[in-house]
Amino acid sequence: MLDSAYSIGLLAIYAASIAVLVILFFVPAPYGRYQRRGWGPAISARTAWVVMELPAVIVIALCVRSSEVNAARSIVPLVFLTLWQIHYLYRTFVFPLLMRGGGKRFPVVLVLFAMIFNTANGFVNGYNLFLSGRIYPLHWLVDLRFIAGLAIFTAGLLIHALSDRSLRRLRRANEVGYAIPRGGLFELVSAPNYFGEIVQWIGWAVMTWSLAGLSFAVFTVANLLPRGIGHHRWYREHFEDYPDRRRAVIPFVL
Ligand SMILES: NC(=O)c1ccc[n+]([C@@H]2O[C@H](COP(=O)([O-])OP(=O)(O)OC[C@H]3O[C@@H](n4cnc5c(N)ncnc54)[C@H](OP(=O)(O)O)[C@@H]3O)[C@@H](O)[C@H]2O)c1
Repeated sequence: MLDSAYSIGLLAIYAASIAVLVILFFVPAPYGRYQRRGWGPAISARTAWVVMELPAVIVIALCVRSSEVNAARSIVPLVFLTLWQIHYLYRTFVFPLLMRGGGKRFPVVLVLFAMIFNTANGFVNGYNLFLSGRIYPLHWLVDLRFIAGLAIFTAGLLIHALSDRSLRRLRRANEVGYAIPRGGLFELVSAPNYFGEIVQWIGWAVMTWSLAGLSFAVFTVANLLPRGIGHHRWYREHFEDYPDRRRAVIPFVL
């Protein structure tokens, strides 16, 4: 039963990645600077972030609870769990708490979609770590895949969290307008927060060396690449003095 749920969830994430990649190139997700009428009821962005990210925190924890004692106590999956929860506690609680302009409207339909994704993603990754019977032995911690993946994951986490902070500093408490972000990786790309997030989940895929981890990295690329390209186009349309040299998401490339 859980095996089938895992297979279906995994396939659904890969299929959703293709659909999301294609759709988002034509229809920007209607929140933030693309917020517009016609998407049904909406709630505040701050509440939306908490509600839609929470399943990722809870579902993986439920996988630990449902696992056999050995899996729940083995060190390596618990290291992965800790890294996952550091990210999701930040995204679910710290990011919305600190955000400026959090009173903006966020469509409920997007919240529901994100909740479904976070439930599937939390389960698929939790299943791989705690329910599948796969064993990550202790020496995985000195395996090149773990060390390289952890370095990539950490770099990505720092890049997106610091970029989130730079964006926050562009506004005062109740402001909702936009300015040209400057400094750090913003000199190279318009959306270093998205670049960092993509790097982070590629690192996760490498260190967990799993189809589950890879599915999250693939989905993140599909979700954030078109949006980052959209942000880049938006900046160029709205700011005459927008720096020419900047790329959209991937430094020197795209
Ligand atoms: N893994 C995934 O699939 C996934 C999916 C979505 C998001 N995320 C992550 O979640 C975080 C937030 O995503 P997002 O789509 O909301 O990012 P975003 O569009 O870059 O916005 C981030 C925050 O900064 C504000 N902001 C952006 N540009 C600004 C500017 N030029 N001047 C002033 N304020 C500005 C936004 O306000 P407004 O909301 O008012 O525009 C928002 O509060 C990112 O770190 C992203 O990587 C991950």
